[in-house]
Amino acid sequence: MSHTPVPAEFPEVLAAYALAGRLVSAEPYGSGHINETYAIVMAADAGPRRYIFQKVNHLIFKNVPALMDNVRRVTEHIAAKVRAAEGEAAARRALTVVPARDGRTFAQDAGSGFWRVYDFIEGAHTVDRVETEAQARVAARAFGDFQAQLADLPGGRLHETIPNFHHTRSRFETFRRAVAEDCVGRASEVKAEIDFAFAREADADVLLNRLARGEVSERVTHNDTKINNVMLDDVTGRAVAVIDLDTIMPGLPLYDFGEMVRTSASSTFEDDPNPGNMQLRLPLFRALVEGYLGSAVGGVLNATERAHLGFSGKLMTYENGIRFLTDYLQGDTYYKIKHPRHNLERCRTQFALIRSLEAQQGAMARIVDEVFGGR
Ligand SMILES: Nc1ncnc2c1ncn2[C@@H]1O[C@H](COP(=O)(O)OP(=O)(O)O)[C@@H](O)[C@H]1O
Ligand SMILES: [Mg+2]
Repeated sequence: MSHTPVPAEFPEVLAAYALAGRLVSAEPYGSGHINETYAIVMAADAGPRRYIFQKVNHLIFKNVPALMDNVRRVTEHIAAKVRAAEGEAAARRALTVVPARDGRTFAQDAGSGFWRVYDFIEGAHTVDRVETEAQARVAARAFGDFQAQLADLPGGRLHETIPNFHHTRSRFETFRRAVAEDCVGRASEVKAEIDFAFAREADADVLLNRLARGEVSERVTHNDTKINNVMLDDVTGRAVAVIDLDTIMPGLPLYDFGEMVRTSASSTFEDDPNPGNMQLRLPLFRALVEGYLGSAVGGVLNATERAHLGFSGKLMTYENGIRFLTDYLQGDTYYKIKHPRHNLERCRTQFALIRSLEAQQGAMARIVDEVFGGR
């Protein structure tokens, strides 16, 4: 954390926007790991009003105009739907982009940073970890409803802002190359992890093969379905809006569900240094299945997709595990690390979750059948 609460370029960014009133405060906000997020308050005649200012991480997102084009299309589509269904009062049920003075959906500072502004969603909050089954159910329903809202998004395929994001085969090939190159000489130290990953290579192709055969279909997916990307109503705890649309792209619904299993049905955080703490929590898995199958997308999932709900958790965990291992083998160039073995610890804890998912595969399948049968 720097000593200044807001970065030096903030005044020039603010000047690029025509917000009513005078600036009262600006401070860092939330606990996102990707972008820099600030909450600002403007005092206008109608009273104080809050906005979210975000500096987009353009090391990860290389094409911000394309990304913002996706965000604009998606938010406008959802806003039109919630207004049609629930009236003007439902405005906070969609993320709203505030355009810059020049009409664009983002502004650039002199240091070539990209910024965007959203209306602040009031009366709602995010949680960083799922604590209760009710939260897991609410989040899964929100992401399922979100996928369904976008089923009829006009204007063709969205930009693939990070190509091959969940292409597990290409992730695996990158991992294989990192092992072969062994550029920082760590491969011998992590032989057990490399063997573990190679033993599960076939998993990488399971959903891609189904997709190639037309047995599962591509939709618009969120791709970062962590609980802290759903705003929850302060009073009712129900979902208000899905946020953090940077990774929205064409994808498989199962990727979104699998990422929920990985992050919201697991017993500890992804970089817990003790892999022994990591396991699948079946009651939370059940809650995710209930929320997801109970959402608007539940009814359109086909039998193949339903049959792979449990597997999708394993696949997303595998993908993340081999990406952490790849980064460790390449000398920690992608993920931020806090200590030299951070990526290795992340990998080991992901692999512990895979073991737990494999051990509970049958129990997960029974839960899916029970929940589906009860609908
Ligand atoms: N429009 C908004 N209204 C209120 N809070 C928001 C809004 N957008 C983001 N936040 C808060 O800021 C946090 C980080 O924003 P997010 O878009 O998820 O960034 P990151 O990509 O860094 O995770 C969110 O978890 C949420 O708490
Ligand atoms: Mg986020």
